[in-house]
Amino acid sequence: MKILSVTSEVFPLVKTGGLADVTGSLPKALAPLGIETTSLIPGYPAVMRQLTSAMPLVTFDSLLGERASLLHTRVEDLSLFVLDAPALYDRPGGPYVDETGADHPDNWKRFAALSLAAAEIADGVLPGWVPDLVHTHDWQSALTSVYMRERGCMTPVVLTIHNLAFQGQYSAKLLGNLGLPPETYSMNRMEYFGDISFLKGGLQTADAITTVSPTYAREILTPRFGMGMDGVLNARVSVLRGIVNGIDLDVWDPSSDPHLPRSYDVNSLRRKRENRAVLLKEFGLDPSHPGPVFSAVSRLTWQKGLDMFAETADEVIRHGGKVIVFGKGDHEIEQALLNTASRFPGRMAVHIGYDEPTAHLIHGGSDAIVQPSRFEPCGLTQLYALRYGCVPVVSRTGGLSETIIDANDAAMSARVATGFQFHPVTTDGLRLALRRALHAYADPKMWARLQNQGMKAKFSWERSAQQYAAVYANLVRKSGPISAAAPADLRRATI
Ligand code: ADP
Ligand code: GLC
Repeated sequence: MKILSVTSEVFPLVKTGGLADVTGSLPKALAPLGIETTSLIPGYPAVMRQLTSAMPLVTFDSLLGERASLLHTRVEDLSLFVLDAPALYDRPGGPYVDETGADHPDNWKRFAALSLAAAEIADGVLPGWVPDLVHTHDWQSALTSVYMRERGCMTPVVLTIHNLAFQGQYSAKLLGNLGLPPETYSMNRMEYFGDISFLKGGLQTADAITTVSPTYAREILTPRFGMGMDGVLNARVSVLRGIVNGIDLDVWDPSSDPHLPRSYDVNSLRRKRENRAVLLKEFGLDPSHPGPVFSAVSRLTWQKGLDMFAETADEVIRHGGKVIVFGKGDHEIEQALLNTASRFPGRMAVHIGYDEPTAHLIHGGSDAIVQPSRFEPCGLTQLYALRYGCVPVVSRTGGLSETIIDANDAAMSARVATGFQFHPVTTDGLRLALRRALHAYADPKMWARLQNQGMKAKFSWERSAQQYAAVYANLVRKSGPISAAAPADLRRATI
């Protein structure tokens, strides 16, 4: 089976968060099941720089008004189509924001073009390569199925929601610029509270909708977590399901991680101490102090709740521990964390930044990873924490609630506990969970058991890849031969 995956980021080429980890590792897990994935990604500078050899396949003279070409390349185990469109992607900054952190003003066009190129591929623009199914991810590629259905291309589409907070909401005035007919401004397509939403268009036109944990799949049906989209999701609940993310066991492996000064496994956990010493040095913390290191590696946004850690980090320090926060995001949250750190020199460090090797070192050298998310579709950091023998302290929400087993008495005696959960998700809740974790740390036997149980927990992609494969197979079986419908007017107008 041939899959076209359409994504705005993919590890190891371009990453701002867990989406890249998932789109980079799922294809590898699907391959042994006979599923060949090729991922379509934008040709950002970071991507173009890493292409050593790329084969041009087709050129669009005017993809939403811009010249663009599709290239094919392979990077490690990944097969990639790269949409090379300098007017859209060749600029400083990241995939979504400029150097000052402001959204690129033409994001609507940048990601609509990505989706339109995907629809072209699904519709047969590449001689000899037509996918059996298209897999889109989040709002950035959600328009793919809208474009496909507009032109009568009925190839099945799976849309995965990684984060409902981002919906691609724009003025309805843009419809014409998107090459879409006025009828798409309707309840059962893209109309969204007087605007249009790329994500809603995808939710209405995909054949199956998945999200990245069963708990989040239930949560998003409620007004509290539905972010305005719960009505649409309830209407489509029969095609919605949750499949929990796996992790890439090769990229995140403490026994072979090139970013760790000292490698270790479940039988040599003592070696973590050497990584801890390097970590403390790197973050300018007092190495003579014996207490545990509680760390967070995260985007610093409201979702992640680290403002609550700014208010509770003193709890760790009062119990003799140290705190490290590494991340980037909202200025106010960064500032709140920096202010707390300034009260505890040598004991708490906050570094604002984004850097893969440092993220690995923090997992390799910390004792606990703190993740007090207000909502969390799946979360990968807590899974990396488990694999690296860190004990996660997490809020009970979304994927966190089903991947971490709270160290209550029952779970401890059943020898299945892996971390600490708290609910409700408040500062007091977090403070209490930190206190419980610190008490557990004071009992070396209990801590070692938690580490052991966490390191043995299974979060490979195997089971989840099988679930995706079943979703794909079911849709491909149901769909007739791939439509060779005559190109719609849209196509003449834009390509
Ligand atoms: P989200 O995708 O919502 O940010 P996840 O937990 O799913 O949350 O994935 C986060 C990914 O981003 C992980 O791979 C994590 O290591 C990485 N990450 C987060 N912050 C940083 C950072 N400051 N530097 C490097 N990697 C980071
Ligand atoms: C999103 C979510 C996160 C999830 C990731 C990958 O960024 O916030 O919870 O793990 O996507 O699916």
